[in-house]
Amino acid sequence: MDKDLKEKMFKAAVEAKKNAYVPYSKFPLGAAVLTEDGSIYSGANIENASYSLTNCAERSAIFTAVSQGERKIEALLIVSPTEDPVTPCGACRQVIEEFADGEIDVIMMTEDGKELSMTSTELLPGAFSVSSMEKNNEL
Ligand code: THU
Repeated sequence: MDKDLKEKMFKAAVEAKKNAYVPYSKFPLGAAVLTEDGSIYSGANIENASYSLTNCAERSAIFTAVSQGERKIEALLIVSPTEDPVTPCGACRQVIEEFADGEIDVIMMTEDGKELSMTSTELLPGAFSVSSMEKNNEL
C-alpha cells in the first residue's frame, strides 16, 4: 500500500477515534477506508446501553462510505489505543467481505505506529458472499 495513502488513512482513523462513543468499554477505536478514487471515509465505535447494539469502528467507517454512495473499498485501516494492534471482530470481517474490492489489505495499527497487516481473505477464509448464492442457486 502506498505510504502517503496509508499515512492519510492513519490520520483519518486517529481523528475519528476522538469521536468514539465508549462510555461502557472506555475502549476507543478509529477506522478509515479507502475507495477506488482515493477517497477516505472514517468512523469510530459507537456503544449503546443495551451493549449488543454497539457499532464497531470498522463498520462505522464502511457504512459511512456506503452511505455516501461508495460500493467498493480498496483498503481498511484500524487504530487502537493498545500496545499491540487489534484485529476486526467477526461481524466486521463479514461486512468487510461484503464491500471489499477483491482481496484487500486490512492494516491494524496502534497509536504509536505498531502495525499488523493481513488481507481480508486471511481474516475470513471461505467467506459467504454474493458469489456463494450466484454459483449454487437459481435465483
Ligand atoms: N470494537 C470495534 O470497534 N471493533 C472491533 O473489531 C472490535 C471491538 C469495539 C466495540 C466496543 O465498543 C469496544 O471495541 C469493546 O469491545
